[in-house]
Amino acid sequence: MSENKRTIKISPIKNGTVIDHIRCGQSLKVLKILGLTEVDIKDIVSIAINVESSTGKKDIVKVENKEISREELDKISLISPETTINIIRDYGVVNKHRVTLPDHVKGILKCRNPNCITYKNEPVEPEFKVISSNPVNIKCIYCEREMKEKEISENLL
Ligand code: CTP
Ligand code: ZN
Repeated sequence: MSENKRTIKISPIKNGTVIDHIRCGQSLKVLKILGLTEVDIKDIVSIAINVESSTGKKDIVKVENKEISREELDKISLISPETTINIIRDYGVVNKHRVTLPDHVKGILKCRNPNCITYKNEPVEPEFKVISSNPVNIKCIYCEREMKEKEISENLL
């Protein structure tokens, strides 16, 4: 049997969102960002981890009937900047776009410097400047502490 015949394909969806070209290993984090790790979710979700694609391996998350908010897109862009969002209607891709890594992110992750003003009980929302995209590297605008990919995904709010 060829490798190809052994591959189990993840089914197409009728209506919803396909989050594609997710960096390997980040799909579980994407589920968390989308609130899909709760016990009482109603949406139908399929996940593929480490599947082959034309550009190497990737993860995929398919969610039926789900709209993704701007804040969720910003969070996904920080942990996987090459991700594409495909909107599916009646089995067809009606819209495809890549997430965009913003220049600044505010209020979606916390600074991990315990001496940072945003870390204390001050009413100051954490804010970061994005300084590079591959690898993703961001810098707190208050204390200048830098955070790289692993820290970013651990500190999302
Ligand atoms: N897809 C799906 N259900 C559908 C249509 C598409 O799950 N009814 C998925 C495909 O499996 C693919 C993604 O949505 O993972 C994008 O579909 P498409 O644009 O047709 O695939 P590609 O051209 O391979 O996409 P790209 O160029 O972005 O890699
Ligand atoms: Zn800080």
